[in-house]
Amino acid sequence: MRLRHKKNAEMNIYDYDMVIRYTEHNDNLIATRTARGYDKDEHSQVRTGELCEPHAIFKNDNPVHLELGMGKGRFISNLAHNNPNINYIGVEKSATIILKAIDRLNSTINPAELQNCKNSLTEPNLRFMCIDIIKLGEVFPPHSIDKIYLNFSDPWPKKRHESRRLMHINFLKIYEKLLKPGALIEFKTDNIDLFNFSLEEITKSNFKILSKTYDLHSDSALCKDNIMTEYEEKFSKLGNKICKLIAKIN
Ligand SMILES: C[S@@+](CC[C@H](N)C(=O)[O-])C[C@H]1O[C@@H](n2cnc3c(N)ncnc32)[C@H](O)[C@@H]1O
Repeated sequence: MRLRHKKNAEMNIYDYDMVIRYTEHNDNLIATRTARGYDKDEHSQVRTGELCEPHAIFKNDNPVHLELGMGKGRFISNLAHNNPNINYIGVEKSATIILKAIDRLNSTINPAELQNCKNSLTEPNLRFMCIDIIKLGEVFPPHSIDKIYLNFSDPWPKKRHESRRLMHINFLKIYEKLLKPGALIEFKTDNIDLFNFSLEEITKSNFKILSKTYDLHSDSALCKDNIMTEYEEKFSKLGNKICKLIAKIN
């Protein structure tokens, strides 16, 4: 069964329990675990300035990993399935793409169970969140996240757009604030210029490179347990080499 209603994607994603609901009010981002349905009364129950507390969302103390710019979500869905003791939040700014991710997830389950899925959780340790990454520092409590993945982030090749690249120092500072001491970021791309830019930005930050490769699929150590993202598969088929770095916060 495919989702048909993409027009009101922003409203429709909040029909799903797996989408973390937040709203903006008085310049504060307010987050809460999604409730069934979506109406103004429910919003009014949310307190101004409330942060998105991951352990309240998942109702456990397991580590929390984010994928930033998850796209259609194959990577994070597979991780969540393979690692039930880790909580995963896929962050994506496009509600339409989040609907596609939910649709993709639903297509992997038995059609007989699909009817119940809208308001249940196909992977209990997986949530999606529709938000621009630039705002994440205001949404999650400081040092509440255990790991961040960035896969095939938009390259923004023009110099005048470099501050939009998700490995720009301004974004790295947001990740520093979110991550626990000693936590890791993992970054994959097929774009060598973006990769080199990222290595350079990391030298300006409190992260240090633990490992890197310009050809992930030929690197048996770094490629162990690699989960291909949608873009990774697409670019690999075109013959592009995949770069990967792992950096640790000091
Ligand atoms: C090139 S796609 C890669 C998707 C996926 N990670 C993959 O590897 O297949 C980049 C995704 O990041 C999302 N994105 C880009 N900038 C973002 C931002 N500032 N906040 C949230 N999502 C963002 C885009 O909407 C898009 O879905």
